[in-house]
Amino acid sequence: MKQRVFVTRKIPDEGLRMITERFDTTVWPSDNPPSVKEIVQNAEDCEGIVTLLSDPIGRDVISKLPKLKVIAQYAVGYDNIDISFATERKIAVTNTPGVLTETTADLAWALIMAAARRIVESDSYVRDGKWNVAWGPELLLGSDIYGATLGIIGLGRIGSAVARRASGFNMKILYHTRSENEYTKEIESKTNGTRADLQTLLSESDIVSLHIPLSSETHHLLGENEFKIMKPRAVLVNTSRGAVVDEDALCKALKSGHLGAAGLDVFKQEPLQKNSPLMKLPNVILAPHIGSASTKTRATMATMCAENLIAALDGKQPPNLVNKEVFEK
Ligand code: DGY
Repeated sequence: MKQRVFVTRKIPDEGLRMITERFDTTVWPSDNPPSVKEIVQNAEDCEGIVTLLSDPIGRDVISKLPKLKVIAQYAVGYDNIDISFATERKIAVTNTPGVLTETTADLAWALIMAAARRIVESDSYVRDGKWNVAWGPELLLGSDIYGATLGIIGLGRIGSAVARRASGFNMKILYHTRSENEYTKEIESKTNGTRADLQTLLSESDIVSLHIPLSSETHHLLGENEFKIMKPRAVLVNTSRGAVVDEDALCKALKSGHLGAAGLDVFKQEPLQKNSPLMKLPNVILAPHIGSASTKTRATMATMCAENLIAALDGKQPPNLVNKEVFEK
């Protein structure tokens, strides 16, 4: 008998086909995520489940899925999954690292440039019929990117890819990371990057870009005090996780004009609530969590996710296993 798999949303065909060919598969039919109850109902007989970052896979869900052997996450981040409980239950958790690095770094740069140079405001200005004078000496002034100081919080795969792109803009780079890693030496030698403590990075950077996972240590890493330390008119870009930033404090800092602009792809609550104060701020660019959203990357994520799932259900160690303990003898 085929093993059973629940896929919580339709993922690109490249990966979905690999799954449906091998397993008795149920795909959640709607774009709206299944509720906890619906996840449990659909996955209770399943050996495998394919999840998205918006699916809460906590102890309450895992404990009701007695046959589950693998949670194959269609994302690099997995803060929606209770990893320690999955590990306790000997359930493999996999993710899709690496493949989305450059795509997400591209988006961080799109937000850096659009926020610093007020591209979205400019577009609305023209479309709204406000462009009535041919050229204005003080019209829609933004900040320079070339030669500016870029502060990168979290120098992992994506942070270092953002840093590499900065060389073309002759930027000074400050990076903040907990410990030295495979990227720190490269970034120091190739881009003149310097490691800095958080305070120094915040007080000296013209642009700050966030590239750290969400955890209890990074929750609200940037709040009122941190925004106060930042340079007047500085730009903040977040393509990591929304809750790394205290959104209310960010709104205040943007509203007061202390921060110049922000480019945000992630929010404490997604989708962003229609009444969020961020919606009303002209100096914020809002994107609906599209960091990895290129056709090619999303298709590759789907095949990686399927390969991880198939390996685990064949009893082999999946290529992108998060909780290695599960396969340790
Ligand atoms: C991830 O993979 O964690 C991104 O946030 C979505 O692609």
